[in-house]
Amino acid sequence: MGDLTGRVALVTGAGRGIGAACARALAEAGAQVICSDLSAPDDLAAELGGLAMAQDVTDEAGWTAAMDFARREAGGLDILVNNAGLFLMKPLTETTLEDWRRIHSVNVEGVFLGCRAAIPLLAERAGRWDGGTAIVNLSSMAGLVGSAGAVCYNASKGAVRLLTKGLAMELAAAGVRVNSVHPGVIETSMGDEVIAAFSGATGLGDNEARTQLAARHPLGRMGQPGNVADAVVFLASSRSAFVTGSELVVDGGFTAN
Ligand SMILES: NC(=O)c1ccc[n+]([C@@H]2O[C@H](COP(=O)([O-])OP(=O)(O)OC[C@H]3O[C@@H](n4cnc5c(N)ncnc54)[C@H](O)[C@@H]3O)[C@@H](O)[C@H]2O)c1
Repeated sequence: MGDLTGRVALVTGAGRGIGAACARALAEAGAQVICSDLSAPDDLAAELGGLAMAQDVTDEAGWTAAMDFARREAGGLDILVNNAGLFLMKPLTETTLEDWRRIHSVNVEGVFLGCRAAIPLLAERAGRWDGGTAIVNLSSMAGLVGSAGAVCYNASKGAVRLLTKGLAMELAAAGVRVNSVHPGVIETSMGDEVIAAFSGATGLGDNEARTQLAARHPLGRMGQPGNVADAVVFLASSRSAFVTGSELVVDGGFTAN
């Protein structure tokens, strides 16, 4: 897809799932990828010829260190993928303030801190590329429509959607594009959590829950991490040079239904 040769990308939560797939796809497209997660994804970075970094996205000082690392080890930053996230399935009446803050600290504050830290570096290199530099934020189809039992997660992913649009307005003149991606159920560890929650809510066994959840996606299956990574590469590349403030839905048609 887009040729990312010469660009440096940082992917948070790159240790597994969608983040790992994004790191792979960005590297395949030619980017030098910094893979960050709670523990440094050393093996993945070695496989991709990239760099690894331990980072908790909720840690403000850690973001300063990450930007120093990008500047020192890779010469700067062209693409930030705010992917790290947590899922919570609990009725609102059972959601504690601690739950709420834990989910929002990763899903919302982590994205806020990441964007804010990266803006100076992204703005610096925006003039190098057709379509400038890019931030891609992982929201969810749960950031577009509500789901019973996932109100806290809904709120956090809805916040990412509008944080993205507002920031796209702030950064347009600087040549930094900001877009969000909204996956359906994707087969990752978090996808397993979603299936387990669906199974708990419906009383279906795990296999039947999996089958029924897959069938709710009009394309008849759950997504693969690579399906989301393809959308991320598009939004990071010059192929999306005129796309900012948009929400790219990668849900097999779930929310179009
Ligand atoms: N899998 C799905 O069905 C699905 C659907 C829609 C949106 N998403 C979103 O996509 C993103 C990735 O999801 P996934 O399915 O790969 O999840 P996952 O649970 O498989 O992986 C998440 C990664 O984020 C990391 N992480 C968690 N907290 C962190 C923190 N504080 N600092 C740094 N890293 C942290 C984890 O260590 C893990 O490697 C998330 O934002 C999620 O909300 C996932």
